[in-house]
This record gives sequence, C-alpha cells and structure tokens, in this order.
Amino acid sequence: MNKKIIKQLAEEHGTPLLIIDHEQIRKNYREFRKRLPRIQVYYAIKANSDPEIIKTLLKLGASFDVASLNEFNLIFDQVKHLEPRELQNFIWDNIIYANPVKKPDSLHVLNLYKPLLTFDSIEEMRKIKLHSPDAGLLLRIKISDEGSVVKFSNKFGIDPKQALDLIKKTKENRMTIEGISFHAGSQCNQPGNFVKALRTVAGIFKQADAKGYEIGETVTRGYPIKIVDIGGGFPVKYKGDEQSFEGLAAIINKEVDKLFPRDKVLLLAEPGRFLVANAGTEVASVVLAKHSTNPPSYHIDDGVYHTFSALVYDHIPITVRAIKGGTPKECRLFGPTCDGLDTLSENEYIHNTGKVFLPYLQEGDLVYTENMGAYTTASSTNFNGMPPAKVVHINL
Ligand SMILES: Cc1ncc(COP(=O)(O)O)c(C=O)c1O
Repeated sequence: MNKKIIKQLAEEHGTPLLIIDHEQIRKNYREFRKRLPRIQVYYAIKANSDPEIIKTLLKLGASFDVASLNEFNLIFDQVKHLEPRELQNFIWDNIIYANPVKKPDSLHVLNLYKPLLTFDSIEEMRKIKLHSPDAGLLLRIKISDEGSVVKFSNKFGIDPKQALDLIKKTKENRMTIEGISFHAGSQCNQPGNFVKALRTVAGIFKQADAKGYEIGETVTRGYPIKIVDIGGGFPVKYKGDEQSFEGLAAIINKEVDKLFPRDKVLLLAEPGRFLVANAGTEVASVVLAKHSTNPPSYHIDDGVYHTFSALVYDHIPITVRAIKGGTPKECRLFGPTCDGLDTLSENEYIHNTGKVFLPYLQEGDLVYTENMGAYTTASSTNFNGMPPAKVVHINL
C-alpha cells in the first residue's frame, strides 16, 4: 500500500490502525475462483470476522466456514432478512460449521437450520445426534501437515484407517454423512499433502461404497452427492519464496479431476488467510524513542497482545517498515504493554531473523506492516486496558 495513503489514514483515524483494502479481497476471491473453478469457497471467518469483510465476500457469492455459534450469528445477521425458505436454503448451501468440537447448547440452536457440521469421533457424533439430529455431517480425517506453518493434525481428524468403522457406526445411528473433510495445515507449502489427502478420501469413498455405507445427501438430486471439503491452508506470499497458489491449484485440479466425477462429488474449500492476509496493513506510532540505549529502543502502540499476536499464534514472517526515509539501523522494538513478552524484535518471525532495522525515529513517527489482514485483530486482546487496533476499510 502507498505510504501517502497510510500516513493520511493514520492522521485521520489515529493509531494503532489496521487498514483493510476490499479491492484486494475481491482480487483474491476472483483469483481463487479462477484457479480452482470446481471448488466452492467457504471463507473461514476465524481469519478475520469483520462484518465488512463478510459483506464484501457475500456480495461476491462466497459461502462461509464458522467455528462457533457467535461466528454463525455473524453470517446469520447478514442474511436474516431473507424469507424463511430462502434463509434455510442459504444456510444449507453456504455455511459449514467446521469445528469438530461443539458445545451442546450451540448444537441445540443450530439444529433449527439443519446445518452442515464436521466431526472426528464417535463421541462427537453421539453428541450431535442428541442435540442436532437433523444436521448433515462431514467426517474430518487426519492427514499429513508437514511443511505447513500452523498445524492441526495433532488435535483434529480421525486416523483414516478408522474412518470406515466410524462411518458404519454413524450410519447405524441413522445420521447423514455428506462427505469427508481435511485440513492440510495453515500456510501449506507442501502440495503433496493435498494430493495424499485427496487420494485417501477417494479410497475411503471406495471402501464405503463397497460396504454399502451410503455417503452423500440424496435430497437435492435424487442420488447421493458426496462432499469433499479440502479445508484451508492456501499459502500467501509473505516473503516471496512460498509455494505459489497457482502451482498448488494446478496440482489440486489435476488430482480432483482424476479422482472425483463432477456429477457425483461436490468440492469445497475453507480458505481464510488467502482471502484476507494481503488486504491488511497495520500502522503504529512510536510512543517512546530511547536513543540512550544501544541499539536504540522504540516502543510503539501495537504489540503481541494486539495486532502482532500473529507473532505468537500464527508464526508468519513480519516486516516492520518506517514511513519516513533514512538509513535503517539495528534497533529494538517493543509493544505498548507492561509485559516483557511484548517484544517484537528478537522474535524469530520478525524480519526473518529477529533483528529489526529502522531509520532514526522519534516519538510520533509512524511504522507500518503489510500482509496483516489474517489472524491479527482476530486474536487481539484488551490487555492492560489497551483495545485492539481500530479497523478502517478502503475501496468498499
Ligand atoms: C477448520 C478450518 N478451516 C479453515 C481454516 C482456515 O485456514 P487458512 O487460513 O490456512 O486458509 C482453519 C484455520 O484455522 C480451520 O481450522
């Protein structure tokens, strides 16, 4: 983003500030649709659940992946004006609740809408049967997430070897299994993870067909359509040397065309980061510039308890730059809270080395960081009574 615009917006709105460029979100969505035309996009709103982002993606025809009843309600709020029949159809066709662990009271409310839910254990299946018996189910399997920056397979997914048995038990409980889901890990740089996972899914479908365990929903077309949900993980160019989305998409397309007939299988994905990361630019001000230390120490008004929480939870490469020019010199960079942990320099994910270089700064000077649209404000806190960065939307 242009430095002049960043400066203007910071002067107008104050700091800390997160600028979200909606034209970039539209570009990302179109790119996803163009490169993966068979795959319906369910935006994982956990990456950034700002209602303006939801509105922009809704206008483009996106669907949504939610992880809690509160996230479900953020989507519901945008569509509640629809006629009851249209509303029900929207929820069926455009929302997936993709957290394999759900609270009974959330399931109870969700059952009103016969939602699509994921599960990965017999215990969760029984809970769903009790509290949301009209739901459709996707079985989440555990797959390799080697080479992905944020991993999930330590926590979620049934071992594919046990999938058939759980499918059998789910059918015996007269629950509908609509398909299978997986997640290759966030910021996945290993296309092989998708390939192996897709082949594993095809293998499970084959075994289930052979045993006569019907997977798929029959209502819409009169014959079962199986869902394959390939999750999120589509990589963003933070440093430039990451796996290209274009290359990954070509590999996925080839594999799904080989494995899944168009008229029998519906494909969907849950991209989060890919749609919003490069649409966000964070801006902070220097609150204290200590030139009496060696190297100089800059305390800014955003840190690891706020937009830079990505350094702790998300582990993405972050590069902080100054608006003003000058020769960059090594410095230490701190967030605004009283905690020593709130230190940006020395973190291995900052500037790829933990060493921060900035020009000579004074109090009030601005620094900015690009690619901060995903998993940043989403995990900000109010620690020390300091609220998360204000969000300003451009090109709405
Ligand atoms: C179930 C599920 N789907 C999708 C996503 C989004 O992943 P990404 O942002 O890597 O696309 C996540 C991330 O946590 C997830 O847990």
